[in-house]
Amino acid sequence: MINKKRHNKQGFFISLEGFEGSGKTTLSKKLYHIMLRNGFNSVLTKEPGGTLAADKIREILLERESEGLGYKAELLLFAASRSENVRVNIQPALECGSIVISDRYLDSTTAYQGYGRGIDMEIIKYLNYFAVGNIIPDITFFLDVDTEIGLYRSTVYSKGKEMRFEDEFIQQKQINGKLFLDRVREAYHQIASQNPDRIQVIDSNRDIDLVLNDIIKILNQRLSRKYCKEIFLES
Ligand code: TYD
Repeated sequence: MINKKRHNKQGFFISLEGFEGSGKTTLSKKLYHIMLRNGFNSVLTKEPGGTLAADKIREILLERESEGLGYKAELLLFAASRSENVRVNIQPALECGSIVISDRYLDSTTAYQGYGRGIDMEIIKYLNYFAVGNIIPDITFFLDVDTEIGLYRSTVYSKGKEMRFEDEFIQQKQINGKLFLDRVREAYHQIASQNPDRIQVIDSNRDIDLVLNDIIKILNQRLSRKYCKEIFLES
């Protein structure tokens, strides 16, 4: 049985979601440094990866040499990487009261492997639960960007070998008449509407500092209660 209750650890868990070029990675890093400057114990992670084993899984998943990897194997590898990252990094940090910022998490699997690849959603839900239990984010920012803008940004700032997904997006494979990235974007909107108390949709077509400001405002409403202090951009 899937228990949908969130973790009751002392820390606070933030995830950032969205497709390539939405600014997730830059924003996660900025947020992490702002948290540290404001005196919050913080941990930054990026998926897939985060431990020695998970980083090896990341290579298999993202490198061009893995072109043609089966969808089932892909799903299992993402789940394996996440389960290790939770066990080694995220859960212990939450237990110590830290703020955890994760660049992608569970919703990526639901969006890309579930809606994107078309894998049965019940299997995705179960596997997500199996991999992380109740370690669900307290808040998730879905950074929404137009697919064209996102794809342009992600290929311009490409990361060399880690281009298997981007290659595929550029080849623009269609399933049921829809392009992969358009399905992923729609998926994120659906996931957000199904989880309104957890997921905040942020317009990321704008300048990154405006996006960051919105995130800090929302976080202040949540964190000032929990930690009895506020986050300031300049401190
Ligand atoms: P990465 O190079 O880390 O890009 P980004 O900066 O966009 O996160 O690549 C991660 C890729 O893996 C990205 O295309 C999304 C995909 N992905 C999944 O398909 N499922 C998942 O569960 C996760 C975490 C990522």
